[in-house]
Amino acid sequence: MGIKFSFGKKHPDCDRELQSDFEKIIEKGLSRRDFIKQTSVIGMASFASASTLGGALAATQDVNTNLMGFRPVPANSLDTVTVPEGYSYNILVSWGDPIMPGGVSFDNATRGTAQSQALAFGDNNDGMELYHLAENRAILAVNNEYTDIQRIMPGGEAVTIDDINKGRLAHGVSIIEIERDGNRGWRLVRDSRYNRRITPDTEMEITGIARGSDLLKTSYDPSAAMARGTWSNCGAGRTPWGTYLTCEENFDGYFPKTKELDNLPDEYKRYGVGEKDWGHNWQKEDKRFDINAEPNEPNRAGYVVEIDPAEPNSTPRKLTSLGRFKHENAECIVNADGRIVVYMGDDERGEYLYKFVSNRRYDPARGKANSELFEQGTLYVAKFHESDGRLSGRGEWIALVHGRNGLTRANGFEDQAHIQVFARNAATFVEATTMDRPEWVAAHPHNSSVYVALTNNKNRGKKKNRGGIEQVVSGPNPRAENNYGQILRWIPDEDDHAGTEFSWNLFVVAGNPLVKEGLYKGTANINPDNMFNSPDGIKFDNHGRLWIQTAGEFSNEGDYEGMGNNQMLCADPLTGEIKRFLVGPVGCEVTGATFSEKGTEMFIGIQHPGEDNTASTFPYGESVPRSSVVVIYKDDGGVVGT
Ligand code: FEO
Ligand code: CA
Repeated sequence: MGIKFSFGKKHPDCDRELQSDFEKIIEKGLSRRDFIKQTSVIGMASFASASTLGGALAATQDVNTNLMGFRPVPANSLDTVTVPEGYSYNILVSWGDPIMPGGVSFDNATRGTAQSQALAFGDNNDGMELYHLAENRAILAVNNEYTDIQRIMPGGEAVTIDDINKGRLAHGVSIIEIERDGNRGWRLVRDSRYNRRITPDTEMEITGIARGSDLLKTSYDPSAAMARGTWSNCGAGRTPWGTYLTCEENFDGYFPKTKELDNLPDEYKRYGVGEKDWGHNWQKEDKRFDINAEPNEPNRAGYVVEIDPAEPNSTPRKLTSLGRFKHENAECIVNADGRIVVYMGDDERGEYLYKFVSNRRYDPARGKANSELFEQGTLYVAKFHESDGRLSGRGEWIALVHGRNGLTRANGFEDQAHIQVFARNAATFVEATTMDRPEWVAAHPHNSSVYVALTNNKNRGKKKNRGGIEQVVSGPNPRAENNYGQILRWIPDEDDHAGTEFSWNLFVVAGNPLVKEGLYKGTANINPDNMFNSPDGIKFDNHGRLWIQTAGEFSNEGDYEGMGNNQMLCADPLTGEIKRFLVGPVGCEVTGATFSEKGTEMFIGIQHPGEDNTASTFPYGESVPRSSVVVIYKDDGGVVGT
């Protein structure tokens, strides 16, 4: 008897078979550590007596691990954060709050100046990670993904030099020290020596395979060794040696199309460079953002950046060996053989899922010098094989290595640096599988399964991706005009994250059983009480709970009826059960979960409350809604989620 992934019963109107070979794979793939952890609840005597794998699994099925003990929250459209009974929250920090000496309080009338913003928490916080200094003190590294010009500028446009600089300085990363506030969550330590802003102006070292490449040379950096700045920092990650990974996503909208480039080069088009102008006007203040003046500057954005949050004077490192695309997050794990593996999504319709495998092995004794592991390794892209209409199947990782798989000079790939910088083109060339917008990747803490949120894709089955490839309805992307999204998971063969073969299934296909039919209702673990759309941030806590954050439609009408505002859910990976844990305020998306060491507090982002001119005054009831970090805790001091 094994653990079944059919979630109890087949969906009444869904004739697709959820149960599959994946079940057998996961029985094998579930690590021994997991058995020991779970069976320890019923005692080692039972574990010892369960002489076979099946026996051990059967024994664990009788165990109530109370993985999700909270009472779920109904959907709502309120302008507040709704948490389960017995939970509370506090606002830790909001856009514009001063964090460094000389900073001034946020001004609702002016919404700040360039000078105040330089010393303040950035806008639109997304991915983040917590680093304890002591039990009650920690550093929080937080991405500030972008700024909403209409919100940040009282006049709705970036016109003056101060407007332009203020907007630019609202981007990047904020690093803050925080301390426990008695039993009422955590609070900001203003003016701490750790507090720091990393912005689109901060100097950073270019590292890895594309360092020194002609593709990255500019007039002010002819050696392609030092870049300036990071922006569009979406998801995040952390390394085993205690550094922070911030991921550059929608970097393209900062390079407006200019007259001389009416016919944009293909390399620009593949990444959207020069096509959109989001109105930041950075090019007016800094010629780096004028693609006529500095045509290679866009090639220096779209990377994962490593930051040491404990060293305020350290120089961030752009990691070119991890590839250039619209990075969502970077899930970094140590493979059983000691090599570092980083799983990464490229969040655009019909783009791909990647992983990086280091050449050398992690050595804990080397501490932060392990960062060198990011310099030499192999970038792979995922290809999913036909699944005959089932929601599971097999897949492989294809190496993006110069000279292999046709990635040769004759086919337009000059060298390995070229492949790193134009990873999308290489992935298209090797016929990787176009995905429904890969967002966060999360690796299970106790076994070798890995999950990725595929948020939605209105173009599936309708339009080609940017590389000119049809977005076929199949495999892990089973629905045309996919408004709801799904979460995919895989287990590498032999539990080897550095290997090339894996089995996959869809953990959940989101949908609306109230108004839709067939697979658009969602899989059997979706019901009217937990339905949602557009899973984006996903993260495991140390106990193996999968937390799911949404960034989708919040109209609560039509296809989205009954779903309410964007929200956060919690899932049990073993049973497939999903419960709504939190509902965000009006117009927000929920971003960036991280946890305190003991799991007694969860930190999340409320990003862009009041988006699309919706009526939000979150968090302070003032005229300007502000993105914020929120700390959630249990009133009895217990572990969040139990
Ligand atoms: Fe910044 Fe893919 O979300
Ligand atoms: Ca996201």
